[in-house]
This record gives sequence, C-alpha cells and structure tokens, in this order.
Amino acid sequence: MSHQEFRAINFGAGPGCIPDSVLLEAQKELLNFQGCGKSIMEVSHRGKEFEKVIQETKSNLIKVLSIPDDYDILFLQGGASSLFSGIPMNLCESPNDVVDFIVTGAWSKGASTDGKYFCKVNKVADMEPEKFLTVTDPSQWKFSPDSTYIHYCDNETVHGVEMPPSTPDHFPEGRIVVCDMSSNFLSKPVNVSKYDLIFAGAQKNAGISGITIVIIKKSLLTKTKPSVPSVFNFLKKSQNNSLDNTPPTFNIYITGLVLKWIIKEGGLEEMERRSIEKSSNLYKFIDGSNGFYRCGIDAKYRSRMNVVFRIQDGNEQLEEKFVKEASKHNITDIKGHRSVGGLRVSLYNAITVDQTKKLIEFMTSFMNENKQ
Ligand SMILES: Cc1ncc(COP(=O)(O)O)c(C=O)c1O
Repeated sequence: MSHQEFRAINFGAGPGCIPDSVLLEAQKELLNFQGCGKSIMEVSHRGKEFEKVIQETKSNLIKVLSIPDDYDILFLQGGASSLFSGIPMNLCESPNDVVDFIVTGAWSKGASTDGKYFCKVNKVADMEPEKFLTVTDPSQWKFSPDSTYIHYCDNETVHGVEMPPSTPDHFPEGRIVVCDMSSNFLSKPVNVSKYDLIFAGAQKNAGISGITIVIIKKSLLTKTKPSVPSVFNFLKKSQNNSLDNTPPTFNIYITGLVLKWIIKEGGLEEMERRSIEKSSNLYKFIDGSNGFYRCGIDAKYRSRMNVVFRIQDGNEQLEEKFVKEASKHNITDIKGHRSVGGLRVSLYNAITVDQTKKLIEFMTSFMNENKQ
C-alpha cells in the first residue's frame, strides 16, 4: 500500500501536518544518518554530524527569511509558551517595567497573563469583550509612553485572527517589537528588520513540537541579566550556539528538512501564494453558503492559516456529525479549539491546494444533505 492511500488529510492546528517527503527523508536516514551508522538522535550534540545539521538549518533559515546579519537565531525548549515568561525575564530590568500587549486572541492573552509575574502589563487593545472577532483600528491603540517592549501575536491559532504585515508600522517609533509568529511562521515573506524578536513554536509550519525558534536582534542580548536561568538565558544561548545544554537534536534536524523542502518548493513567496489560494477558496465558499457555514471573524483579520467557522450559527449536533462524516473522507482534526467550540481548519504549508478543494467538495455535499 503506498503512503498516499493511508495518509490522512490532516487539518490539525498543531502539531500539524508535515510534508510527506520530509517524513520519508527522515525515515530513510533514521538508522544510518549520512553513513555514520547511527541515527541523528544518537549522536552527540557537539559532534561533527550535528554541528553540520544545526549550521545548515540556521543558514537555510537565514536564506529563506532573508534574516539580516545583525540578528541571531536561537533554538529553545519549553514550547512557545515558555517565551511568555522567558522574554520579560530577559528584556525587563525590573518588575516595574511596563510591557505593551495587543490582546487579539488566546495566545496574546496568555502572554499577558504570564507576563504579569515579570512586568507591569499594559493592554494596548483588548479584544476579548468583542469575543476576539475583530481588532480595533490601530489609531485607537493605547501604548504606554515608556514601555520596555511591545508584544503581539501575528496569527491567533485558536481564534483565527491574523494581523496585517503593516502592524508594526503603527507602533511608536523606537520601541522594541516582539512578535509571536508560531502559527504563521514560514507561511509568507517577512520583513525581519521591522522586529526585534520573533519567536515561533516549530509544530505548525516549521517542523515538530519541542523547539521554539527565536530570531533576535543581537543588540538586545546585552539586556539579559546574569540572574536569568540558563535555559531561558538568551545571551548564554547565543554565545553557545544554543548548545550550552542538550538541545532537541531530532527536532532541529526536522526543521532543517522542512526548510530544504520550502526552498525546493519555491520559498516563502510560493508558500504565501498557496496559502492565499487555499484560504480564499475556503472563505469564499463559506461566505457563499447562505449562512449554512459562517465565519464570524472580521474579513480584514481572517487568518490564512486557521479558518474557524460554525455550522448553522453553532448547531453542535450538526457540527459533531460534520466531524464524523469528514473522517470517512480521510479528513481529520477539524474540531475547533475546546475553548471556543465549532470547527477549525488549519491550512499550513504541508496542506495542498488540492486537499483544500477536497475539503470544499465534502463541505458542499454535507451542506446539500443537511440544509433544511
Ligand atoms: C500563536 C501561538 N503561540 C503560542 C503557542 C504555544 O505553543 P506551545 O504549545 O509550543 O507552548 C501556540 C500553540 O499552539 C500558538 O499557536
């Protein structure tokens, strides 16, 4: 049986789908990595095999994102959530420092909740009262006059809200800009120089869970105090090429394979082109369904990565049936996040335009069979 016959169309929000060719490559090399007689999981993180993997992964990330020379790349453990405390630990001088948070969904809210143990939290905008369905106009954002940095989430995975690329242009000049790009990382070209720190858990578009990638402006590293614990200490990580303790070697290797796949497929311009095609096909179909399917997110902020929607304005029975019937078509992982319910389809890089078309075909027949 070829893998195409049993592989699910996995629309999961993360850990999400990985390109088949990446998994096959990892499988091929599993017992004997490049002729060394061991798997990449069994070699020293300080040995020549892994040294090559980490350097290649870094240089391919620099190539793919055009990362300028004055930035460093760190590979951290603890998930993207660990950065919700790790970042203020490194960047704030004292708990009296003010940090500006733009709260547009569950993950920026989470960052502001953890942040309050390390800094004073100023919510520049808080979209929770609007159920995270939209974002207030930047002209109304209330920045603190002297925040240590600004934190926002480029793509809210749970609520399906994606910020426009122009977002940092609305920030007061000279502020340090921190961006959680966990769920749209590597899905489009990014002007890295607009940011001081970008972080992303790998398990959406960049590999598997277990590493968080940090792209940090080198000048920020001097802010880290010696008292910051080693596992969170950006300066120490940078000085030691993320190898001061044992890094998640297999995870870095997989990210390296994913980056090679992105390059082979045409880079981030191509990833963006595909994501626009996939998401606009799906949103167009949802909007044209006469309310059978409905996406409540303000059209300006709809995510290309995580499409959240309801059936008949929240008919839970029908939504359950939808999930069940979808699985008969090999379409999986489409339940909404437990905190919001409904349905969510994640269109990460490894999901193809054709797979999205198959989903729309299924949605069409489900609608025709179930509408009153
Ligand atoms: C945007 C965003 N930020 C942070 C996180 C937290 O990541 P982790 O589970 O790796 O801690 C997630 C997880 O889905 C996410 O989507």
